[in-house]
Formats: sequence, structure tokens, C-alpha cells
Amino acid sequence: MKRIAIFASGTGSNFDAIIQAVDEGKLDCEIELLVCDRSNAPVIEKAQAKNIDTFIFRAKNYSDKAAYEQEILNICREKEIEWIFLAGYMRLIGPTLLKPFESRIVNIHPSLLPAFPGKDAIGQAFDKQVKITGVTIHFVDNGMDTGPIIEQEAVRIEAADTKATLQKKIQAIEHRLYPSVIHSLLVEEEVK
Ligand code: GAR
Repeated sequence: MKRIAIFASGTGSNFDAIIQAVDEGKLDCEIELLVCDRSNAPVIEKAQAKNIDTFIFRAKNYSDKAAYEQEILNICREKEIEWIFLAGYMRLIGPTLLKPFESRIVNIHPSLLPAFPGKDAIGQAFDKQVKITGVTIHFVDNGMDTGPIIEQEAVRIEAADTKATLQKKIQAIEHRLYPSVIHSLLVEEEVK
């Protein structure tokens, strides 16, 4: 079974959706590690409730990105992690992790990239009054929400939508799409 790590900084609703898919037998993998850069992030309790090991760090306690990513890399190697999935991890990934995990780090973003990268993509799309936005899942490179696109799904912003209702719609897509894309990636690799 593939051994994966999830990186997250916040609420962890995508983390939950991935765990649920594993529990329901829709996704065949071992979630070996949660990496989190905020000690008060709700996602940590979710991991602990499921007995998933966590590595929690404060970037400020390290000299630079290479230093904390080296520590993450050491843990990933120890745990024989094969894939990394970002689920609301709000930091750029540097070469320390990108090189050894080439084409094995995947991100989910709540817009139709390349539109609205960065923070608060849902708010950005809403404020711009676009009619269609959505969700993108892509391989991670050294840019912010860039890298080859794996899958996208669109959602229409209706006149009656508020930021809150739009967020609900986007999250519903994310929670369905991410586990299924992860499943496909892992199965495709198995077949190769
Ligand atoms: C998700 O909407 C994810 O797409 C987004 O953060 C949210 C995390 O929510 N990621 C980005 O914006 C990456 N640039 P969650 O903690 O409830 O899973």
C-alpha cells in the first residue's frame, strides 16, 4: 500500500475527506504523517484522533526554508513516504523537498488556475464577479499554485451566492475530487 503524507496549515476539512475516503475503502493508502506549520491548527486534533503521526513546526525557529524542509525530508524518508499531498498548506515548497519528490507533490486550490492563485482564492473570484470558478488539483513546482494541472472542476457563481455559499459549494467539490484524484494517481502508478 502506498504511504502518503499530508501537509496542512488550517482547518483540515480536506484532510478529513481523505481520511474518510480511506475508511470507506474508496482510497487505498496509508496516511503516515501530517506535517503542519501552525501549532494551533484544528487539523492537528483531527490527525491525533486518528492516531496519525504529526510533525508540527514553526518556520521562525529555523534559519531558513531549507533547514525545516530538511527535517521534514528526514522524517519522510524514515517513514518511507512516497507521495505528499498538500491540503491547505500555505507555504511554498522549496528544492529541498521538490527534488527528491519530483512529480510526487500535489496541491489542491480553490479556483480554476491559473486564475486567482494565492490566498483567499474564493474571495478573489467572488469580488471579481466572475461567473465561473472552481477547483484545481495540480503537481507542485517552485511557484505559488503553479505546476502541471491534473484535474479541474468548475462551479457557477449564481446571483444569489454569497462568499459563504460559494465556499460551501467549492468545499463540496474539493472533498469529493481530491480523494478520487489521489486514488487515480496511486492506482496509475501501481499499474506502471
Ligand atoms: C482549501 O480550500 C484548499 O483548496 C486551500 O485551502 C483550503 C484548506 O481548507 N488551499 C489553497 O488555497 C492553496 N493555495 P481545509 O483546511 O478545510 O482543507
